[in-house]
Order: sequence, then structure tokens, then C-alpha cells
Amino acid sequence: MAASASCISLVVLVALATAASAQLSPTFYSVSCPGALAAIKSAVTAAVSSDPRMGASLLRLHFHDCFVQGCDASVLLSGNEQNAGPNAGSLRGFGVIDGIKAQVEAVCKQTVSCADILAVAARDSVVALGGPSWTVPLGRRDSTGANAGLANSDLPGPGSSRAQLEAAFLKKGLDTVDMVALSGAHTIGQAQCSSFRSRIYGGDTNINAAYAASLRANCPQSGGNGNLAPLDTTTPNVFDNAYYTDLLSQKGLMHSDQVLFNGDTTDNTVRNFASNPAAFSNAFTTAMIKMGNIAPLTGAQGQIRLSCSKVNS
Ligand code: HEM
Repeated sequence: MAASASCISLVVLVALATAASAQLSPTFYSVSCPGALAAIKSAVTAAVSSDPRMGASLLRLHFHDCFVQGCDASVLLSGNEQNAGPNAGSLRGFGVIDGIKAQVEAVCKQTVSCADILAVAARDSVVALGGPSWTVPLGRRDSTGANAGLANSDLPGPGSSRAQLEAAFLKKGLDTVDMVALSGAHTIGQAQCSSFRSRIYGGDTNINAAYAASLRANCPQSGGNGNLAPLDTTTPNVFDNAYYTDLLSQKGLMHSDQVLFNGDTTDNTVRNFASNPAAFSNAFTTAMIKMGNIAPLTGAQGQIRLSCSKVNS
């Protein structure tokens, strides 16, 4: 009897602990800063209309934040993680986030975290480029440090195999369907020559020959590392499902894209997302919410930064 009572209290304790780590709520700022979401949305809409690629860059920032010690805005701190291999010379949008933070601070002093601003900006970016919307759970707090080593180990690279991608996402609690759906973010934005060079110079056989030739024109065998190519061949500024139709014709830009459709277990999911835009939208929004829930700091943990690029002094 006593044993089963203590067993029940243990179950209750575990349940409470789990609830505490997932206590984000869409209404978190309804009272403390009712204007926050509208301020973020109008700033993101303006930034994306003057530079459509910025929508892609802000979405990617949220991903690179969440995969490294959780969605805690660690990626926004100057230096450190920003200098890690997957980030250096590649991440964009820090200035836009700093600008949004300044506007939000002007309305509500030290109330809205940088981690939440990033999560909302990612959603607003997708919407600004014609993609689906979702309700963003809020209440994340900001880290007091960053971790370049974790950025190097936990962010998958463009040469990853399908098994490596699955393992990297599983480590963050995201399953294979989440992984394939989140990769659909590559329906917008650009990649540098250095991210796909080996694929177009004989490294891969699963690439459309005419497509590879067209990419070689602007991505020489040596030099031109920063030359850009769109991640989606037809509509890089529209959040649609063209990424998956590209994969069906072996027009994935990076090795890590085409491995999702390469005669293996993820082929059916790719076919489904290519033929059914609503299925992709549903899977993407579900997975974005899951990704946004990775190890947030909540309650009294961390801090609300005054400036997203540095910890409070
Ligand atoms: C599946 C594993 C993934 C790998 C290996 C990967 C890798 C990359 C690489 C190498 C680039 C190009 C960087 C450059 O050349 O400068 C890129 C761009 C991008 N990635 Fe991913 N990524 C992955 C998943 C994701 C996810 C989950 C998201 C968001 C939900 C995302 C969003 C983006 C976006 C939007 C861009 C374009 C950014 C821009 O134009 O500024 N990626 N990714």
C-alpha cells in the first residue's frame, strides 16, 4: 500500500516536471505585452518585402537556435556559436532581430525574450512568403551563454547521410516525418557554392545532369565559395512544396536534400508532400511547434535580454 502510494507520488512528480519543462503558452504576453506579436509581424513583413531572402534567413536562425542547447536565443549572442562551422559566414538576419527587439523594448521594457521573438519571426517569415501559419507557444527565456562546440556537433551538415539526419533530429525529439517536413524549409532561400560543390562535381550520381551543369556555371571547382544558388529551383521566394517536386526529379541542391528521396524509407513521405501541399503544411506546422519546444528556459531560468546580441550586464 505504502509502496504503491509512493509510486503514485513519483508518477505525479514526473508528470509535474514534464509539464514544467513544456509550460509555453500562446497567450503568455496577452497581459504583459499585448502589442508584442503585432510589432514583430509588421517588422518581419517590412524586412521580407524589402529582401525576400530575409524570410528564409530568419527561419533558419530559429532552427539553429533550437538545435543548440534549446530555443534560448544562444545563437543571437555575438561571437561564440556564431563562429561555429555551420554558422560562420552563413547565418543572416541578426540585425533584423536586433531591430525588432528594439521596437518591442520601446513598447514593453524587458518583457519579451529574444528566443520568443525569433520563434514568432520564423512563423511570420513563412507567412510573409505565402506559407502556412500556426500558433506559436510562448514564454521562452534567454540564455546567459552560448556553446560553439554543441553547434558544431548537433547541427547537421550538407554532406549528411539520411541516417545521420535521422539521428540528429531524433536526438532533439523529432522523428523522421518531422525531419522530412522541416527539411521542406529549403523551399525558400539560398545556399553557397561551398555547400553543394562536391555534389555537382562527381560526388553524387543522384543528380539531374542538366541541373548539375547549370549549377557548375556559377560554382567553379575552386573559388567562388560564396556564390549562391536557390535551394528550390523554381520558387525560392515562395513557401510552397516545390522542394519536394525538385527531389522527385533529382534536383535537390545539397547532398542532404537528395538523400530524402534516394530509393529508401523516406521516399513515400517525399512523394506525399510533393503531391499533397496540405499534407506538407500540416506536417511542417506540427514539426515547427515541436522544434520550438526543444528545451526552453522558463520560469526563473535564464533572463530576458535587453539586447539580443549580448547578455545583460
Ligand atoms: C535536415 C538537415 C539540414 C541541413 C543539413 C541543412 C543545411 C543547410 C545548409 C548547408 C544551408 C546553406 C548554408 C549556406 O550555404 O550558407 C541551409 C540553408 C537553409 N536552411 Fe537548412 N539545413 C537543414 C535543415 C533545415 C531546417 C530544419 C530548417 C528550418 C526549419 C532549415 C532552413 C534553412 C533555410 C531557410 C535556408 C536558407 C537560408 C538563407 O537563404 O539565408 N534548414 N541549410
